[in-house]
Amino acid sequence: MSAQSFQIAVLAGDGIGPEVMAQARRVLDAVAGKFGVAFAYDEQLVGGAAIDATGGPLPEATLKACEAADAILFGSVGGPKWESLPPDIQPERGALLPLRKHFGLFANLRPSVCFPSLTAASPVRPDLVEGGFDVLCVRELTGGIYFGSPKEIREENGEKVAIDTMVYRESEVERIAHVAFKAAAGRGGRLTSIDKANVLRNGLLWREVVERVAEGYPDVKLDHLYVDNAAMQLIRRPREFDVVLAPNLFGDILSDEMAMIAGSLGMLASASLGGQNEAGLYFGMYEPSGGSAPDIAGQGIANPCAQILSAAMMLRYSFGLTEAADAIDAAVRGAIDGGARTGDIFTGTEGTHRVDTAGMGEAILAGLE
Ligand code: IPM
Ligand code: MG
Repeated sequence: MSAQSFQIAVLAGDGIGPEVMAQARRVLDAVAGKFGVAFAYDEQLVGGAAIDATGGPLPEATLKACEAADAILFGSVGGPKWESLPPDIQPERGALLPLRKHFGLFANLRPSVCFPSLTAASPVRPDLVEGGFDVLCVRELTGGIYFGSPKEIREENGEKVAIDTMVYRESEVERIAHVAFKAAAGRGGRLTSIDKANVLRNGLLWREVVERVAEGYPDVKLDHLYVDNAAMQLIRRPREFDVVLAPNLFGDILSDEMAMIAGSLGMLASASLGGQNEAGLYFGMYEPSGGSAPDIAGQGIANPCAQILSAAMMLRYSFGLTEAADAIDAAVRGAIDGGARTGDIFTGTEGTHRVDTAGMGEAILAGLE
Protein backbone atom coordinates (compact mmCIF):
# COMPACT_ATOMS: atom_id res chain seq x y z
CA MET A 1 0.00 0.00 0.00
CA SER A 2 1.32 3.45 -0.84
CA ALA A 3 1.84 5.98 1.91
CA GLN A 4 -1.15 8.02 2.98
CA SER A 5 -0.84 11.37 1.29
CA PHE A 6 -2.39 14.71 2.24
CA GLN A 7 -2.71 17.88 0.24
CA ILE A 8 -2.16 21.07 2.23
CA ALA A 9 -2.93 24.56 0.91
CA VAL A 10 -0.20 26.68 2.48
CA LEU A 11 -1.13 30.35 2.86
CA ALA A 12 1.80 31.94 4.66
CA GLY A 13 0.62 35.53 4.14
CA ASP A 14 2.30 38.60 5.57
CA GLY A 15 4.62 39.76 8.31
CA ILE A 16 5.99 36.90 10.39
CA GLY A 17 3.71 34.45 8.54
CA PRO A 18 6.33 33.14 6.10
CA GLU A 19 9.01 32.88 8.81
CA VAL A 20 6.97 30.80 11.21
CA MET A 21 5.47 28.79 8.35
CA ALA A 22 8.96 27.72 7.28
CA GLN A 23 9.46 26.13 10.70
CA ALA A 24 6.07 24.42 10.58
CA ARG A 25 7.03 22.93 7.22
CA ARG A 26 10.26 21.54 8.65
CA VAL A 27 8.34 19.94 11.48
CA LEU A 28 5.72 18.52 9.13
CA ASP A 29 8.42 17.05 6.90
CA ALA A 30 10.02 15.44 9.92
CA VAL A 31 6.80 13.81 11.10
CA ALA A 32 6.00 12.70 7.57
CA GLY A 33 9.26 10.75 7.53
CA LYS A 34 8.77 9.42 11.00
CA PHE A 35 5.16 8.29 10.59
CA GLY A 36 5.35 7.20 6.96
CA VAL A 37 2.87 9.67 5.51
CA ALA A 38 3.31 12.25 2.74
CA PHE A 39 2.36 15.90 2.69
CA ALA A 40 2.03 17.81 -0.58
CA TYR A 41 2.17 21.56 -0.13
CA ASP A 42 0.42 23.95 -2.46
CA GLU A 43 1.74 27.44 -1.64
CA GLN A 44 -0.62 30.26 -2.44
CA LEU A 45 -0.79 34.01 -2.03
CA VAL A 46 -3.06 35.61 0.53
CA GLY A 47 -3.50 38.97 2.25
CA GLY A 48 -1.16 41.86 1.58
CA ALA A 49 1.21 39.65 -0.37
CA ALA A 50 -1.67 38.79 -2.69
CA ILE A 51 -2.77 42.42 -2.96
CA ASP A 52 0.73 43.40 -4.06
CA ALA A 53 0.93 40.61 -6.62
CA THR A 54 -2.63 40.44 -7.95
CA GLY A 55 -4.55 43.46 -6.69
CA GLY A 56 -6.81 41.49 -4.32
CA PRO A 57 -6.31 39.76 -0.95
CA LEU A 58 -7.91 36.45 -1.89
CA PRO A 59 -7.12 35.50 -5.51
CA GLU A 60 -9.28 32.95 -7.29
CA ALA A 61 -6.28 30.63 -7.59
CA THR A 62 -5.86 30.64 -3.82
CA LEU A 63 -9.50 29.80 -3.24
CA LYS A 64 -9.33 26.99 -5.82
CA ALA A 65 -6.22 25.55 -4.20
CA CYS A 66 -7.96 25.61 -0.81
CA GLU A 67 -11.00 23.86 -2.28
CA ALA A 68 -8.78 21.16 -3.74
CA ALA A 69 -6.82 20.64 -0.51
CA ASP A 70 -7.45 18.39 2.49
CA ALA A 71 -6.79 21.32 4.82
CA ILE A 72 -5.54 24.90 4.86
CA LEU A 73 -2.48 25.90 6.83
CA PHE A 74 -2.62 29.64 7.29
CA GLY A 75 0.04 32.04 8.55
CA SER A 76 -1.13 35.59 9.16
CA VAL A 77 -2.25 38.57 7.12
CA GLY A 78 -2.17 42.33 7.32
CA GLY A 79 0.24 45.12 8.08
CA PRO A 80 0.60 48.90 7.99
CA LYS A 81 1.19 48.90 4.24
CA TRP A 82 -2.40 47.82 3.53
CA GLU A 83 -4.24 49.51 6.39
CA SER A 84 -5.44 52.51 4.42
CA LEU A 85 -6.99 50.49 1.59
CA PRO A 86 -10.79 50.40 1.29
CA PRO A 87 -12.17 48.11 4.04
CA ASP A 88 -13.37 45.36 1.74
CA ILE A 89 -10.00 44.64 0.23
CA GLN A 90 -7.97 44.94 3.43
CA PRO A 91 -6.25 41.63 4.19
CA GLU A 92 -8.33 40.72 7.27
CA ARG A 93 -11.75 41.62 5.91
CA GLY A 94 -10.92 40.63 2.35
CA ALA A 95 -9.22 37.27 2.94
CA LEU A 96 -9.48 35.81 6.42
CA LEU A 97 -13.17 36.41 7.06
CA PRO A 98 -14.25 35.32 3.54
CA LEU A 99 -12.19 32.13 3.87
CA ARG A 100 -13.93 31.30 7.14
CA LYS A 101 -17.32 32.00 5.61
CA HIS A 102 -16.68 30.29 2.28
CA PHE A 103 -15.70 27.01 3.91
CA GLY A 104 -18.30 27.24 6.68
CA LEU A 105 -15.63 27.09 9.38
CA PHE A 106 -17.97 27.82 12.24
CA ALA A 107 -16.02 26.22 15.07
CA ASN A 108 -12.82 27.85 16.23
CA LEU A 109 -10.83 25.93 18.81
CA ARG A 110 -8.14 27.88 20.65
CA PRO A 111 -6.30 25.89 23.26
CA SER A 112 -4.79 28.21 25.83
CA VAL A 113 -2.16 26.09 27.49
CA CYS A 114 0.29 27.41 30.03
CA PHE A 115 3.01 24.81 30.50
CA PRO A 116 4.17 24.46 34.12
CA SER A 117 7.65 25.40 32.90
CA LEU A 118 6.38 28.58 31.28
CA THR A 119 4.41 30.20 34.08
CA ALA A 120 7.12 32.86 34.47
CA ALA A 121 6.13 34.22 31.03
CA SER A 122 2.60 34.88 32.26
CA PRO A 123 1.88 38.46 33.29
CA VAL A 124 -0.49 37.10 35.93
CA ARG A 125 0.65 36.84 39.57
CA PRO A 126 2.71 33.64 39.94
CA ASP A 127 0.56 32.06 42.65
CA LEU A 128 -2.48 32.23 40.34
CA VAL A 129 -0.85 30.29 37.49
CA GLU A 130 1.51 28.03 39.39
CA GLY A 131 1.50 24.56 37.90
CA GLY A 132 0.13 25.91 34.62
CA PHE A 133 -3.33 25.50 33.17
CA ASP A 134 -5.16 24.28 30.10
CA VAL A 135 -8.28 26.05 28.88
CA LEU A 136 -9.92 25.43 25.52
CA CYS A 137 -11.77 28.35 24.01
CA VAL A 138 -14.48 27.28 21.57
CA ARG A 139 -15.42 30.36 19.58
CA GLU A 140 -18.31 30.60 17.13
CA LEU A 141 -16.64 31.85 13.95
CA THR A 142 -19.07 32.50 11.12
CA GLY A 143 -21.94 34.32 12.78
CA GLY A 144 -22.74 37.07 15.24
CA ILE A 145 -21.72 40.68 14.84
CA TYR A 146 -18.89 39.79 12.46
CA PHE A 147 -21.27 38.82 9.69
CA GLY A 148 -24.77 40.15 10.43
CA SER A 149 -26.33 42.63 8.07
CA PRO A 150 -26.81 45.50 7.74
CA LYS A 151 -23.15 46.29 8.25
CA GLU A 152 -22.39 49.75 6.99
CA ILE A 153 -21.61 53.37 7.62
CA ARG A 154 -24.38 55.57 6.30
CA GLU A 155 -25.36 59.19 6.39
CA GLU A 156 -28.32 60.24 8.57
CA ASN A 157 -29.30 63.83 9.29
CA GLY A 158 -25.98 65.14 8.18
CA GLU A 159 -23.80 62.79 10.21
CA LYS A 160 -22.32 59.37 9.70
CA VAL A 161 -23.89 56.43 11.47
CA ALA A 162 -22.09 53.09 11.83
CA ILE A 163 -24.17 49.94 12.05
CA ASP A 164 -23.10 46.38 12.80
CA THR A 165 -25.71 43.75 13.41
CA MET A 166 -25.46 40.85 15.84
CA VAL A 167 -27.55 37.93 14.66
CA TYR A 168 -27.61 34.36 15.92
CA ARG A 169 -29.96 31.66 14.77
CA GLU A 170 -30.84 28.77 17.06
CA SER A 171 -29.23 26.34 14.64
CA GLU A 172 -25.95 28.29 14.73
CA VAL A 173 -25.82 28.31 18.52
CA GLU A 174 -26.82 24.68 18.66
CA ARG A 175 -24.06 23.37 16.38
CA ILE A 176 -21.28 25.29 18.13
CA ALA A 177 -22.67 24.25 21.52
CA HIS A 178 -22.43 20.59 20.45
CA VAL A 179 -18.77 21.11 19.54
CA ALA A 180 -18.09 22.63 22.95
CA PHE A 181 -19.98 19.97 24.92
CA LYS A 182 -18.23 17.18 23.03
CA ALA A 183 -14.87 18.79 23.70
CA ALA A 184 -15.69 19.17 27.37
CA ALA A 185 -16.89 15.58 27.60
CA GLY A 186 -13.55 14.47 26.17
CA ARG A 187 -11.46 16.38 28.71
CA GLY A 188 -12.27 18.02 32.07
CA GLY A 189 -16.05 17.71 31.85
CA ARG A 190 -16.73 21.39 32.55
CA LEU A 191 -18.12 24.00 30.21
CA THR A 192 -18.50 27.72 30.80
CA SER A 193 -20.76 29.46 28.33
CA ILE A 194 -20.22 33.18 27.77
CA ASP A 195 -22.92 35.69 26.89
CA LYS A 196 -24.29 39.10 27.73
CA ALA A 197 -27.77 37.91 28.56
CA ASN A 198 -28.35 40.84 30.92
CA VAL A 199 -28.34 43.23 27.95
CA LEU A 200 -28.47 41.47 24.58
CA ARG A 201 -31.37 39.51 23.10
CA ASN A 202 -28.62 37.45 21.54
CA GLY A 203 -27.50 36.51 25.04
CA LEU A 204 -30.97 35.30 26.02
CA LEU A 205 -31.24 33.03 22.99
CA TRP A 206 -27.64 31.84 23.34
CA ARG A 207 -28.26 30.78 26.95
CA GLU A 208 -31.58 29.12 26.16
CA VAL A 209 -30.10 27.04 23.35
CA VAL A 210 -26.96 26.11 25.30
CA GLU A 211 -29.12 24.88 28.20
CA ARG A 212 -31.18 22.80 25.83
CA VAL A 213 -28.11 21.23 24.23
CA ALA A 214 -26.77 20.54 27.73
CA GLU A 215 -29.54 18.03 28.33
CA GLY A 216 -27.79 15.69 25.91
CA TYR A 217 -24.55 15.86 27.92
CA PRO A 218 -25.48 15.02 31.51
CA ASP A 219 -21.84 14.36 32.39
CA VAL A 220 -20.70 17.88 31.51
CA LYS A 221 -21.06 20.49 34.22
CA LEU A 222 -22.32 23.70 32.62
CA ASP A 223 -22.20 27.21 33.96
CA HIS A 224 -22.78 30.64 32.44
CA LEU A 225 -20.83 33.87 32.80
CA TYR A 226 -21.51 37.32 31.48
CA VAL A 227 -18.63 38.28 29.26
CA ASP A 228 -17.43 41.15 31.44
CA ASN A 229 -17.33 38.93 34.48
CA ALA A 230 -15.62 36.19 32.45
CA ALA A 231 -12.86 38.64 31.51
CA MET A 232 -12.18 39.06 35.23
CA GLN A 233 -12.57 35.46 36.32
CA LEU A 234 -10.22 34.15 33.64
CA ILE A 235 -7.43 36.31 35.03
CA ARG A 236 -8.27 35.63 38.65
CA ARG A 237 -8.63 31.85 38.42
CA PRO A 238 -7.52 30.52 35.02
CA ARG A 239 -6.81 27.05 36.45
CA GLU A 240 -10.47 26.52 37.28
CA PHE A 241 -11.69 26.71 33.69
CA ASP A 242 -11.87 23.78 31.30
CA VAL A 243 -13.80 24.64 28.11
CA VAL A 244 -15.10 28.13 27.42
CA LEU A 245 -17.81 28.58 24.77
CA ALA A 246 -18.28 32.03 23.29
CA PRO A 247 -19.98 33.89 20.46
CA ASN A 248 -17.72 35.25 17.75
CA LEU A 249 -16.78 38.69 19.12
CA PHE A 250 -16.52 37.66 22.77
CA GLY A 251 -14.43 34.64 21.77
CA ASP A 252 -12.12 36.88 19.77
CA ILE A 253 -11.48 39.07 22.80
CA LEU A 254 -11.34 36.39 25.48
CA SER A 255 -9.03 34.13 23.47
CA ASP A 256 -6.45 36.92 23.20
CA GLU A 257 -6.77 37.46 26.93
CA MET A 258 -6.31 33.74 27.56
CA ALA A 259 -3.27 33.62 25.28
CA MET A 260 -1.66 36.45 27.18
CA ILE A 261 -2.39 34.88 30.55
CA ALA A 262 -0.79 31.69 29.24
CA GLY A 263 2.39 33.57 28.41
CA SER A 264 2.25 34.78 24.84
CA LEU A 265 0.10 35.01 21.76
CA GLY A 266 3.05 33.30 20.09
CA MET A 267 2.11 30.02 21.77
CA LEU A 268 -1.58 29.97 20.85
CA ALA A 269 -2.63 27.67 18.01
CA SER A 270 -6.07 27.48 16.49
CA ALA A 271 -8.26 25.26 14.40
CA SER A 272 -11.24 26.58 12.45
CA LEU A 273 -13.46 23.66 11.60
CA GLY A 274 -16.44 23.07 9.36
CA GLY A 275 -18.46 19.95 8.91
CA GLN A 276 -17.31 16.47 9.86
CA ASN A 277 -17.12 13.58 7.38
CA GLU A 278 -18.15 9.96 8.10
CA ALA A 279 -14.70 9.24 9.48
CA GLY A 280 -15.15 12.05 12.00
CA LEU A 281 -12.59 14.27 10.29
CA TYR A 282 -13.09 17.95 9.56
CA PHE A 283 -12.17 20.24 6.74
CA GLY A 284 -10.33 23.00 8.52
CA MET A 285 -8.09 25.98 8.45
CA TYR A 286 -5.27 26.10 10.94
CA GLU A 287 -3.60 29.29 12.01
CA PRO A 288 -1.78 30.90 14.89
CA SER A 289 -4.17 33.10 16.86
CA GLY A 290 -1.71 35.98 16.79
CA GLY A 291 -1.34 38.43 13.96
CA SER A 292 1.34 39.24 11.42
CA ALA A 293 3.42 41.17 14.01
CA PRO A 294 4.81 43.72 11.53
CA ASP A 295 7.03 45.19 14.27
CA ILE A 296 9.25 42.10 14.32
CA ALA A 297 8.65 40.72 10.81
CA GLY A 298 11.72 39.86 8.78
CA GLN A 299 14.02 39.62 11.79
CA GLY A 300 13.78 35.88 12.27
CA ILE A 301 12.91 36.22 15.95
CA ALA A 302 9.18 35.40 15.99
CA ASN A 303 7.91 32.47 18.01
CA PRO A 304 6.96 29.63 15.62
CA CYS A 305 5.26 27.50 18.31
CA ALA A 306 1.72 28.68 17.53
CA GLN A 307 2.18 27.86 13.85
CA ILE A 308 3.70 24.47 14.63
CA LEU A 309 0.99 23.63 17.16
CA SER A 310 -1.60 24.69 14.57
CA ALA A 311 -0.06 22.20 12.14
CA ALA A 312 -0.42 19.56 14.86
CA MET A 313 -4.11 20.42 15.19
CA MET A 314 -4.42 19.95 11.41
CA LEU A 315 -2.99 16.45 11.70
CA ARG A 316 -5.39 15.69 14.54
CA TYR A 317 -8.66 17.15 13.22
CA SER A 318 -8.35 16.96 9.44
CA PHE A 319 -6.04 14.00 8.83
CA GLY A 320 -6.72 11.77 11.82
CA LEU A 321 -2.99 11.43 12.50
CA THR A 322 -3.33 11.40 16.26
CA GLU A 323 0.07 9.92 17.04
CA ALA A 324 1.89 12.39 14.83
CA ALA A 325 -0.07 15.28 16.37
CA ASP A 326 0.75 14.03 19.87
CA ALA A 327 4.41 13.79 18.87
CA ILE A 328 4.50 17.43 17.76
CA ASP A 329 2.71 18.61 20.90
CA ALA A 330 5.18 16.68 23.02
CA ALA A 331 8.15 18.03 21.06
CA VAL A 332 7.00 21.63 21.54
CA ARG A 333 6.54 21.00 25.21
CA GLY A 334 9.94 19.33 25.33
CA ALA A 335 11.60 22.35 23.70
CA ILE A 336 10.00 24.68 26.24
CA ASP A 337 10.80 22.39 29.16
CA GLY A 338 14.34 22.20 27.82
CA GLY A 339 14.67 25.97 28.17
CA ALA A 340 14.31 27.24 24.59
CA ARG A 341 12.69 30.70 24.64
CA THR A 342 11.98 33.11 21.82
CA GLY A 343 11.94 36.77 22.82
CA ASP A 344 8.22 36.87 23.56
CA ILE A 345 8.51 34.21 26.27
CA PHE A 346 12.05 34.88 27.49
CA THR A 347 12.12 36.05 31.09
CA GLY A 348 15.66 35.13 32.03
CA THR A 349 14.56 32.28 34.30
CA GLU A 350 17.40 29.98 35.28
CA GLY A 351 17.90 27.10 32.87
CA THR A 352 16.39 28.93 29.90
CA HIS A 353 18.14 30.36 26.87
CA ARG A 354 17.11 32.72 24.13
CA VAL A 355 16.60 31.32 20.64
CA ASP A 356 15.46 32.77 17.34
CA THR A 357 12.71 31.40 15.10
CA ALA A 358 14.91 28.77 13.48
CA GLY A 359 16.45 27.88 16.85
CA MET A 360 13.02 27.11 18.28
CA GLY A 361 12.28 25.05 15.17
CA GLU A 362 15.47 23.07 15.75
CA ALA A 363 14.73 22.50 19.43
CA ILE A 364 11.35 21.09 18.44
CA LEU A 365 12.82 18.95 15.64
CA ALA A 366 15.32 17.52 18.11
CA GLY A 367 12.43 16.33 20.21
CA LEU A 368 10.93 14.49 17.27
CA GLU A 369 13.97 12.35 16.64
C1 IPM B 1 -8.53 36.47 15.10
C2 IPM B 1 -8.27 37.82 14.52
C3 IPM B 1 -9.29 38.12 13.44
C4 IPM B 1 -10.65 38.08 14.08
C5 IPM B 1 -9.07 39.44 12.70
C6 IPM B 1 -7.68 39.52 12.11
C7 IPM B 1 -10.10 39.69 11.65
O1 IPM B 1 -8.27 38.79 15.52
O2 IPM B 1 -8.49 35.48 14.35
O3 IPM B 1 -8.78 36.39 16.30
O4 IPM B 1 -11.12 39.10 14.64
O5 IPM B 1 -11.29 37.03 14.04
MG1 MG C 1 -8.43 38.02 17.46
